[in-house]
Amino acid sequence: MAVAVSMADATRRFTSEPRKLLIGGEWRDSVSGKTFETYDPATGAVLATVAEGDKQDVELAVAAARKALDGPWAKLNPSERGRIVHRIGDLIMEHAEELAELETLDNGKPKGVALAADVPLAADLFWYMAGWATKLNGGTINPSVPYMPGAEFHAYTLREPVGVVGQIIPWNFPLLMAAWKLGPALTTGCTVVLKPAEQTPLSALRLAELIQEAGVPDGVVNVIPGFGETAGAALAQHPGVDKVAFTGSTEVGKLIAQQATGNLKRVSLELGGKSPNIVFSDADVDAAIAGAAQGIFFNQGEVCSAGSRLYVQEDQFDRVVEGLTSAAQSIRVGHGLDPDTEMGPLVSQEQFDRVTRYLSIGEQEGNRATAGGSAIDGEGWFVQPTVLVDAKPEHTIVQEEVFGPVIAAMPFSDVDDLARQANDSHYGLAAGVWTRDISKAHKLAKRIKAGTVHVNSYHVFSAELPFGGYKQSGWGREMGEEVLNNYMETKSVIVGL
Ligand code: NAI
Ligand code: MG
Repeated sequence: MAVAVSMADATRRFTSEPRKLLIGGEWRDSVSGKTFETYDPATGAVLATVAEGDKQDVELAVAAARKALDGPWAKLNPSERGRIVHRIGDLIMEHAEELAELETLDNGKPKGVALAADVPLAADLFWYMAGWATKLNGGTINPSVPYMPGAEFHAYTLREPVGVVGQIIPWNFPLLMAAWKLGPALTTGCTVVLKPAEQTPLSALRLAELIQEAGVPDGVVNVIPGFGETAGAALAQHPGVDKVAFTGSTEVGKLIAQQATGNLKRVSLELGGKSPNIVFSDADVDAAIAGAAQGIFFNQGEVCSAGSRLYVQEDQFDRVVEGLTSAAQSIRVGHGLDPDTEMGPLVSQEQFDRVTRYLSIGEQEGNRATAGGSAIDGEGWFVQPTVLVDAKPEHTIVQEEVFGPVIAAMPFSDVDDLARQANDSHYGLAAGVWTRDISKAHKLAKRIKAGTVHVNSYHVFSAELPFGGYKQSGWGREMGEEVLNNYMETKSVIVGL
């Protein structure tokens, strides 16, 4: 798998120096002096050294964020704040190449994907949010008060920043997840302590430099790279944090909710999924095959909304499996900086072990691979794009999130039974429906318990669309107008006349 890869000077410069924590506008070492290493998952080689924050650093960062809440940041008018947020989007695009390369080196994903998706989506999120800064208005209300006959009031609502926000993000879209979190927090006037994933801290650290360059005052955004059990847990527990926003596993999401109870901080969670992608016989079957392939293989399958359960109406089952099998077999897997690469390695040894363990469980439970089915020998954490058949509803591969390029394909006959199977999951993040029958599509869209339902499409992300989960896929929504509610308190002001 070894290839000669080239990268921009800026990328090399960023990875060649030890990276630090950002607290109160200052880049510093951790209090403990500890550091950790981040790896290129395509080779297993050390990529960069990063300061390792823990509880003590979180203390300092929360204090800095608290101080900044009442500083120059609070005095900016909404238009000024919006323009700064907008400038962050501009700076992301000005540094697209470097950010894409950092993303590829740290996470493994193909640079073409990072350039086409991660980077512009991150910029767009800031541009979209910037427009909201001047529109965070309350309303005027004429209250009726039954026990005060004849009394008149003038009442209105104010929307205020929730305060100091702790944000904990995963490694699958490191830059984009930072954008999803920071965009609404800054737009609403909050201050932030962000903890990137230990596997992929680099792009968030580079983004933080761009945020400084955009004119965000010191202390408004603090970044503490470090591990979940130390830095992450300290942030989720901290009594000086008013809200915690988390994206990651459902398992850790439950811990975050518990850790937040000390001061009843607000909690929003964007967690795992086991999303059904459904193909009816009357669909444009070729488009559905391509959509099913993209739905599972995009970003190595390391996507919370990956379409990992494929339900195909019986009479098209063989054709769809055949099409998907050849799509899987034709994917060029390699180093993400190799321009020919279509799929990179998994992010880490841990994720590689997890996905390959699911592949062996699948084999033991009788799932048959029509494509892939195992790891790829050699350096780096590569696995084959995999299509599994002979899967039953109770099988592990149908129930549990694999978070890798592994899809389970199953036939169905009856729509009611299909709807029941589609909803037979603890998760409810996303779904896909492929059909030319619009009535069927809309009826099913209503029945599926998921935060996003795609019809004749898959993996459509936009800053304008709310994204999040039903059931154990999470609490609250990211993006769109809805996310702003996560970052604001509403105050009713009542004036007796
Ligand atoms: P994770 O949920 O452990 O990590 C996500 C973030 O949470 C990281 O920043 C991590 O440092 C932090 N964290 C971990 N333990 C914590 C704790 N006790 N308190 C506070 N913060 C903590 O995810 P992990 O272990 O990297 O991956 C395991 C599985 O989670 C994956 O195989 C996948 O199924 C799922 N996952 C889902 C994601 C999503 O987008 N919904 C993203 C990443 C993983
Ligand atoms: Mg974990």
